[in-house]
Amino acid sequence: MANQPILFINGEYKPLSEATVSVLDQGFLLGDGVFDVVSAWKGSIFKLDQHIERFHDSLRATRLDAPMSHADWRAAIIETVKRNNLRDATIRFIVTRGVPKAVVADPRDYQPTMIVWAAPYIFLADEAGRRQGIRLFISHLRAFTPDSLDPRYKCLDRLHSQMARIEALEAGYDDVIWLDQTGHVCEGPASNVFAIKGGVVRTPRRNVLRGITRQTFIEIARDAQIPVEEADLTAFDLFSADEVFTCSTAGGALAVREVAGRKLPKPTPGPLTHRLDKLYWALRESGAHGTPISA
Ligand SMILES: Cc1ncc(COP(=O)(O)O)c(C=O)c1O
Repeated sequence: MANQPILFINGEYKPLSEATVSVLDQGFLLGDGVFDVVSAWKGSIFKLDQHIERFHDSLRATRLDAPMSHADWRAAIIETVKRNNLRDATIRFIVTRGVPKAVVADPRDYQPTMIVWAAPYIFLADEAGRRQGIRLFISHLRAFTPDSLDPRYKCLDRLHSQMARIEALEAGYDDVIWLDQTGHVCEGPASNVFAIKGGVVRTPRRNVLRGITRQTFIEIARDAQIPVEEADLTAFDLFSADEVFTCSTAGGALAVREVAGRKLPKPTPGPLTHRLDKLYWALRESGAHGTPISA
C-alpha cells in the first residue's frame, strides 16, 4: 500500500499495515486503556504539554504505567506528525493494558501497548454544520458519576457515548449531550458545552472532562473582559440561552441552533460565539501555546 500513514507503536514507527496490535489486547477486549487527542494547525501543536499532563493523570489514576516520560511522548508525537508530512493534524495517543497472560489475568501484571496516530485535522461538524450551527440532542443516558467512572478519566471505554450518539443521529440531530444524575448539564461525546445569556458565558462546572478547549475559551473570555462562569446549568439554561456552543480540539467553537426541539435566537453563530471563536483561531494562528512541528 503506497502512502500509508506512519504510526508510532511501542517505540517504533511503522506503516499502518504493520502497526498492528493483538486481538487479545485489553484495549480491544475490555476498553482497558486511556488516550488523549491533541491537534496541530498550520504547523503548530496547541497546548501539547497540557494534553500530555492530562494523559499522565489518566495513566496514573488507572494504574497504567508506560515506560515513556513526558519528554518521550512529546518527541513521539512531534515525530509522528513530521513523518506523515502533516501541518494540520488530529493526533491521538493511546496506552492500553496490552495482552494479558491468561484469559483472566491480574490487571497489575501487564505489558502496555503505546500508540501515536496522526491523521489530517478533522472538524466535528461538516461545512454546513459549521456555517448554520448544529442541532443538539439531550440523551436519556446520564453522565458517569465521580464514584463510578469519573468523567475526568479520558478512557477508551466509550460505549456510553457511542450509544448517545446513535440515539441523537437516529432522532435526526447532529450531536448530543447528557445530564448528570441531578439533572445538570454535562458534556457530549467529544465536546464541552457553553451557554450565553445576557452577555454572561457559562459552562458546566463539574462531571465533565477537563477539556483543554473549554479551558482555553474560559481564558479567552476572561482576557477579553467577557464575564465567564463555571456553573450548575440545567437543560432550561440551554433552552432559554441567547447562544449555545460546543467546543473541542476538533474545531474550536461549534454554534448550536437548536437544543432538543427548542430553537435558539438567530443569528447562528450568535455574536459572542462568533467573537470567541475568532479569538480562539487567532490565538492558534499566533503560535501562542504552540509547539512547532519542525522543533
Ligand atoms: C467527553 C469529552 N468531553 C470534552 C472533550 C473536549 O476536550 P478537548 O477540548 O480537550 O478536546 C472531549 C474530547 O474528546 C471528550 O471526549
